[in-house]
Amino acid sequence: MKLLITGMAGFIGHAVARRLSGEGHDIVGIDNLNAYYDVSLKQARLDDLAGCEDVRFVRVDLSDREAMAELFEREGFERVIHLAAQPGVRYSLENPHAYVDANLVGHMNVLEGCRHHAVEHLVYASSSSVYGANDKVPFATDDNVDHPISLYAATKKANELMSHTYSHLYDLPTTGLRFFTVYGPWGRPDMAMFKFTRSILQGQPLEVFNHGDMSRDFTYIDDIVEGIVRVLNVVPQKRGTREVTTDTRTAPYALYNIGHGSPVALMDFIRAIEKATGRRANCDFKSMQPGDVPRTWADTEALYAATGYRPSVSVEDGVARFVEWYRAYYGVHAEQL
Ligand SMILES: NC(=O)c1ccc[n+]([C@@H]2O[C@H](COP(=O)([O-])OP(=O)(O)OC[C@H]3O[C@@H](n4cnc5c(N)ncnc54)[C@H](O)[C@@H]3O)[C@@H](O)[C@H]2O)c1
Repeated sequence: MKLLITGMAGFIGHAVARRLSGEGHDIVGIDNLNAYYDVSLKQARLDDLAGCEDVRFVRVDLSDREAMAELFEREGFERVIHLAAQPGVRYSLENPHAYVDANLVGHMNVLEGCRHHAVEHLVYASSSSVYGANDKVPFATDDNVDHPISLYAATKKANELMSHTYSHLYDLPTTGLRFFTVYGPWGRPDMAMFKFTRSILQGQPLEVFNHGDMSRDFTYIDDIVEGIVRVLNVVPQKRGTREVTTDTRTAPYALYNIGHGSPVALMDFIRAIEKATGRRANCDFKSMQPGDVPRTWADTEALYAATGYRPSVSVEDGVARFVEWYRAYYGVHAEQL
């Protein structure tokens, strides 16, 4: 298959490219290598893919309409895995325009490319953030998500709506994936796993929001990747006629949660990092941050029904694997700490 992976220098994009390399595909990865976090980590992920002969990198900004149109015209992709975005809930309060450019304009350019070049299946990243402060758990894809509490969440919900429209109007098969707090090797420095590990290893205090009274459905990177790869081959089919406009099931459109399916209290997550590092955390308890949600918990039944797959890596194993990677990547060895 001729595949496009957007956001290939990113945490999840790099892992998906690694997983799909060697399986007989022709993979093109794009990214704009922006400086939202350490660009050298993004570059290192690309360097890690340098030996993969079936993976090619092109530096493109999603929001560049002409460049994106040229890319789709030139390459003739069969399937698209769209992961590039401006992530992060907290940063969306500081720099809202970054979210409009990458997540709204960028998503639009991907949809247009897919529409004009008869892409067989567009799989794109949404987020558990769309559930906002919902208190019905676990979160299921048919729950109401009309009340986002951050601009990041609003752009992800908008991506789902825009995709449904293209599925309906142009019979473009699209699948949205609501990822739940992804962690693991090559992870994102702006996320809790990374920040906590760094602070603990450096003996610095770590900021713990809502006084630690939060829980997250932490999902290991390999589980997310397996879900993406399986879903890529489950192409949604059109059902019925387009005239039945109020029935959302007629468009070739699907939406799944990918989460571990078991929320972990933040303090238990910190304990797992303490265990893996062999060090005590010095917690600096803070109040809840605007835009943040108290808990997340994925209902994964729909994913299981479609793919026969359920995420399975436990937090203890996943955290240990992350800490091992972190030590190796930063050249930090236990005996030197
Ligand atoms: N990691 C998580 O826990 C999580 C949870 C829910 C949803 N998601 C979503 O999954 C996707 C991947 O997330 P990630 O954790 O790998 O993030 P990431 O920031 O590591 O990767 C995203 C990549 O996209 C690139 N990018 C951003 N804007 C771009 C633009 N305008 N043009 C081209 N490239 C651009 C970035 O440079 C980055 O390398 C995102 O859509 C994110 O919103 C992630």
